[in-house]
Amino acid sequence: MEITKICCIGAGYVGGPTMAVIAQKCPHIQVTVVDLNEQRIKDWNDPNTDNIPIYEPGLSEIVAEARGRNLFFSTEVEKAIDEAQVIFISVNTPTKTYGKGKGMAADLKYIELCARQIAKVAKQNKIVVEKSTLPVRTAEAIKSILDNTGNGVQFQILSNPEFLAEGTAITDLLNPDRILIGGDTTPDGEEAINALVNVYANWVSKDKILTTNVWSSELSKLTANAFLAQRISSINAMSELCEKTGADVNEVAKAIGMDSRIGPKFLKASVGFGGSCFQKDILNLVYIAKTYGLNEVADYWEQVIIMNDHQKRRFSSKIVQTLYNTVADKKITFLGWAFKKDTNDTRESAAIYVADDLINEQAKISVYDPKVSKNKMLSDLDYLETRSAEKNLEALTILNDPYEACKNAHAIAVLTEWDEFTTYDWKRIYDSMHKPAFVFDGRNILDAKKLESIGFVYNGIGS
Ligand code: NAD
Ligand code: UGA
Repeated sequence: MEITKICCIGAGYVGGPTMAVIAQKCPHIQVTVVDLNEQRIKDWNDPNTDNIPIYEPGLSEIVAEARGRNLFFSTEVEKAIDEAQVIFISVNTPTKTYGKGKGMAADLKYIELCARQIAKVAKQNKIVVEKSTLPVRTAEAIKSILDNTGNGVQFQILSNPEFLAEGTAITDLLNPDRILIGGDTTPDGEEAINALVNVYANWVSKDKILTTNVWSSELSKLTANAFLAQRISSINAMSELCEKTGADVNEVAKAIGMDSRIGPKFLKASVGFGGSCFQKDILNLVYIAKTYGLNEVADYWEQVIIMNDHQKRRFSSKIVQTLYNTVADKKITFLGWAFKKDTNDTRESAAIYVADDLINEQAKISVYDPKVSKNKMLSDLDYLETRSAEKNLEALTILNDPYEACKNAHAIAVLTEWDEFTTYDWKRIYDSMHKPAFVFDGRNILDAKKLESIGFVYNGIGS
């Protein structure tokens, strides 16, 4: 079976970049990305590709090349489903905020809506691909909906989780460590797996395309995120011990990372991990384990989240303590709001929680981030519902110029590791601040010695 038409439901951080790369690498395949969010689709179709809704290095160039040729963004969901042989589901799967599993389980209502819509519209056999991150055995539910509400059409369900990281999405998609495809071990299942393998084989070598059964594929995605997040919580736990003992967490990370069994990646101590997925996926894993009565397994993984919450809280407490136990009416400047560099995504960013804690202590926060809009920062804070939107607006000032943001500050806190922060004229910043001038480097990216020689009181993580 040769694939010539693909539809992707969900034009978000995964659907948009993933489909743009498939379209670029497979000019013979027509790729249509659909979404219910009209504004999002309008933004993807903006004539100036610098205005597309997601900032990722390299993405706008790929969209410029493929859009209108074989890459389309549309709100006509049913038409795109009807025409496609393969339908990727890339919709959001947030943590449930209501009912059974509230605060833990994945909310699968958007997934179910997609399945029902596909069942309603499909008139020919289709391959349905789970691209969203899902609890293990979700394919079973999707299959049941498709088979029981469809028009007698045959569906093959594949699991093809996405491993891209934001900020490096395009290089991750162009040179993936592996592509994982899970499917049924029946002849029809194998035919569907091969069809999808052949799409990726247009640019990924076959030895990197791994095929498994559906459940292994679904569970591997949750496992990968749990292991990655666990490494961050592990090094962050050590960072607190370093601060008490005179050890330096950067030196410890380097020393252990040189052990080839441990490896150097994902050992950067920080103010805590953010992003839309690590916390959500681990909570989901914890919930699944509890559902099967595996309480020790659940407690083991939950500790990764507990440690991460502690790390964020510890950072704000340290600022308050160091500033003579009060930050009331003091100006604290945040450099960075995004959950990591090179993205405009702020979901679960540590900055939101640190700001919330400091505003509770009546601090005035001023923020500069090169890519995050003022409205986004305010809506992030409002979403916590700690205080009214008016009060958040009073407490948070957002500036487009880092030097303006730092002027008259009592302290600067680095929340995101944007490269440009290391290139600033720190003497100029020092001269414009209240003294003593404190820096809290939540990413350990600044040159501590240089800052101290200027006169700053420097506080990193884990030293
Ligand atoms: P997102 O919120 O950016 O995008 C999801 C999109 O789906 C939204 O635009 C929403 O309007 C749309 N949508 C929801 N229901 C719809 C429906 N019924 N019909 C049409 N459109 C619908 O989410 P995301 O960050 O792209 O994540 C999507 C999935 O991929 C999640 O399961 C996530 O865990 C997983 N994932 C995300 C990343 C990442 O870096 N963000 C990486 C790997 C996997
Ligand atoms: C993560 C995974 O890396 C991807 O493989 C996965 O596909 C994705 O989640 C997902 O499922 O959504 P992402 O969240 O985009 O990707 O970014 P990461 O680079 O993993 O960073 C996550 C958070 O951890 C960031 O806040 C980052 O600053 C922090 N981090 C990362 C550290 O604090 N220390 C590190 O050493 C690495």
